[in-house]
Amino acid sequence: SMLEAAHENDIELEGPLSRLGTLHLRITRLGRACEGSLACSTCHVILMDMEYYNKLDDPTDEENDMLDLAFGLTETSRLGCQVI
Ligand code: FES
Repeated sequence: SMLEAAHENDIELEGPLSRLGTLHLRITRLGRACEGSLACSTCHVILMDMEYYNKLDDPTDEENDMLDLAFGLTETSRLGCQVI
């Protein structure tokens, strides 16, 4: 997942803007409190590129429910643990 890739590649997690390959992300407070089991929203990321966002599979209802709890939700928000 995007979350695993960020952690495995030592991506700066606290900055307001980060890069993951060619993908521009705004990292809010990327964490993995629930280890990807859709029980938190600490892995919230904002995709800065709508074109890239539109290429992703749609979020599931479970992801959307958890996203609703995320701080600073935007129309291109995703949970990093769910983006493959
Ligand atoms: Fe908890 Fe992604 S790590 S929902």
